[in-house]
Amino acid sequence: MNTMNPTVTSETGAGVVEDKVAPVKEERPAEAELEEGVTVGTPYSDDPKFKLRNVEVFYGESRAIKNISLDIARNEVIAFIGPSGCGKSTFLRCLNRMNDSIDICKVKGSLQLDDNDIYDPSRDVVELRARVGMVFQKPNPFPKSIYDNVAYGPRIHGLANRKSDLDDIVENSLRKAGLWNEVKDRLDATATGMSGGQQQRLCIARTIAVSPEVVLMDEPCSALDPIATAKVEELIAELSESYTIVIVTHSMQQAARVSHRTAYFHLGHLVEVNETNKVFTSPEHNMTESYITGRFG
Ligand SMILES: Nc1ncnc2c1ncn2[C@@H]1O[C@H](COP(=O)(O)OP(=O)(O)O)[C@@H](O)[C@H]1O
Ligand SMILES: [Mg+2]
Repeated sequence: MNTMNPTVTSETGAGVVEDKVAPVKEERPAEAELEEGVTVGTPYSDDPKFKLRNVEVFYGESRAIKNISLDIARNEVIAFIGPSGCGKSTFLRCLNRMNDSIDICKVKGSLQLDDNDIYDPSRDVVELRARVGMVFQKPNPFPKSIYDNVAYGPRIHGLANRKSDLDDIVENSLRKAGLWNEVKDRLDATATGMSGGQQQRLCIARTIAVSPEVVLMDEPCSALDPIATAKVEELIAELSESYTIVIVTHSMQQAARVSHRTAYFHLGHLVEVNETNKVFTSPEHNMTESYITGRFG
């Protein structure tokens, strides 16, 4: 193939315009096209795990989340997508008060988990984070043994009275994370010596060891190779039987593979929420369409 040829052909073969080069990235539509607080599609649910209303998040004077309302249904997998900097991580971190540690960050609006205020000042944040666990972009195992990484949460939450109970929790969590067979003979080995993909599955095992109700994942596969990514995606599908999962991803293919609903964010607005299939085949909002067809991002 002649890479010098300036004529770009579309990968799909559809809608090829012969005399034009590929659409320019970073061509971001004006914010004026967005109406604050308006989300097209199906942002609400009959059986919400999270009920989020008129959420705004500020970093100092700057408003990173602009009046977002959304329900996250019990046992659904919802994907958050959108251009970098549009507020996906910020919004995700509101769900277990991970933003509390950022001094200049202020969260406004109503955020409920099972009809109880997440931001109630009397709420025990450690307990909240056990119920709403989090997996980060970069696997961050503790510099301890594989066993101790998984046993850490159950120990601090007093979930096991006897060594054999703790052993069971560790084994079950590693099994659910699809890691047991790979590590059962070296539970005393240091976790930081594992491969990246194994470390990420270990972090998932550590999160589920405290029996959370919700797992938040912020680009959990962006540091992984395709094989490790496939394993984590398989795991998400299995976990979705018992947990509510919110996943931020920059990969639209990943969102399409793992999620039931997809939420499209843009410049701090929640533009569209719909069944994932609909978002990727017939999006309702023209900005969603621009994003998924690669006109900006
Ligand atoms: N700790 C922080 N302090 C100040 N501004 C922040 C902080 N984290 C994020 N922001 C700003 O908030 C906006 C949303 O960021 P973020 O939630 O990280 O977006 P995304 O995850 O979609 O890439 C960006 O403008 C970003 O610069
Ligand atoms: Mg982010």
